Amino acid sequence: MDDFDVVIRNGTIATASDTMQCDVGIKDGKVVALARNLARGRTDIDAAGKLVLPGGVDGHCHLDQPMPDGLEMADDFLSGSISAACGGTTTVIPFAAQAKGQSLRAAVEDYHRRAEGKAVIDYAFHMIISDPTETVLREELPRLIREGYTSFKIYMTYDDMKLNDRQILDLLAVARREGAMAMIHAENSDCIAWLTEQLEAAGLTAPKYHAASRPMLVEREATHRAIALSELVDVPILIVHVSGKEAIEQIRWARGHGLRIYAETCPQYVMLTEQDLDMDGYHGAKCVCSPPPRDKENQQYIWDGLADGLFTVFSSDHAPFRYADAKGKMPEGKEVPFRYIPNGIPGLETRLPLLFSEGVGRGRIDLNRFVALTATEPAKMYGLYPRKGTIAIGGDADIAIWDPLKEVVIANEALHHNVDYTPYEGIKVIGWPTMTLSRGEIVYQENRPCGTAGRGKFLKCGLPDPARPKKR
Ligand code: URP
Ligand code: ZN
Ligand code: ZN
Repeated sequence: MDDFDVVIRNGTIATASDTMQCDVGIKDGKVVALARNLARGRTDIDAAGKLVLPGGVDGHCHLDQPMPDGLEMADDFLSGSISAACGGTTTVIPFAAQAKGQSLRAAVEDYHRRAEGKAVIDYAFHMIISDPTETVLREELPRLIREGYTSFKIYMTYDDMKLNDRQILDLLAVARREGAMAMIHAENSDCIAWLTEQLEAAGLTAPKYHAASRPMLVEREATHRAIALSELVDVPILIVHVSGKEAIEQIRWARGHGLRIYAETCPQYVMLTEQDLDMDGYHGAKCVCSPPPRDKENQQYIWDGLADGLFTVFSSDHAPFRYADAKGKMPEGKEVPFRYIPNGIPGLETRLPLLFSEGVGRGRIDLNRFVALTATEPAKMYGLYPRKGTIAIGGDADIAIWDPLKEVVIANEALHHNVDYTPYEGIKVIGWPTMTLSRGEIVYQENRPCGTAGRGKFLKCGLPDPARPKKR
């Protein structure tokens, strides 16, 4: 006699490869049966007319990350994970950021303290390495990778985090040896600093000049350099938050030459343009992120890359700063020149509905590709597959049930993050999750979060699929 804790019946299941009509049987948090007409579960969910999709894996978001200069992220692991669950995401991977002079181990331990007892869904950590000392390179990083922190981010810009080419090479060599994934923020720091000075000298400091200080060539040059460094070391890398044509051209060139260059993009690069940084008064600060949003033509390049496989993952890059807040977009309580506006925009909860509506709904990508970009590929990229990122027997029952016809006009007051705005206010989407299950437990249902704080577990990551050392 079958004995299911939960059965989801009558729905249409889609994975990265297949779409099928069948029920899902869940026991002890795992998927244990995929078949038609399963026996009733203790909880029996009718998903007729609904899509049953793997819960999203958001492989790039920032939660409660320690900030310099009195800034503070608005979302911690509680509000961030609730917001993620309400948008159909069941795994988040934020960043344990090393400050200069800090040990990497201490940064990871501090981040565990920040997460402890808070998350309602499962989470793993990337690391950010800002100080690759001999101890980090020889001892801390290799050990941490072996303990399940198998990806780290390298910044080519931002004064407090940027690394020079020699430092990047040293880190890529460790990634190659250990089979870890290096994520690269590719923008040329000196070009940005020079342009910023020119703009300031001309009195051009409004938020819209953030875009002028980071034109596509600064992203193109750094992307090209990152590719060259990766080629030299012979290690795969992931270029994160790719914004448009010029970086894409570099990545296509690299792929064409057989290099293992992976790419990520985010909702802001298909939904926003630099015009959004020119909203009335100072409101453009709400869309200040790096690289900045480009224009309609570049959005089309991003769509093409999402459809044709140039992009492997689609993440939110949720970086939550409140607008009317001295710890957020108005440092010290006032409007400031663009260089002092904290970079980043919120997007954990809207990531999936925006891509579903604008991508699947408008025929730009199909449903299986949607699942691949938002769940399966990020799970593979960060060593969590097949436990996460698909619906398969033996995998965690992390599932989002979608009403593909539900119309929602995005409004910040209906979102669950702790940010006082969304850049997507007023945009109508068609399709939204009606229920999210994390390891078989309902954590969101009919517009209400219902997971208990601290139920989310820390996940040790395996070696990323693309970075796993090749068998000789
Ligand atoms: O502007 C951005 N992207 N802020 C978040 C930090 C980062 O570089 O990803
Ligand atoms: Zn970045
Ligand atoms: Zn980021």
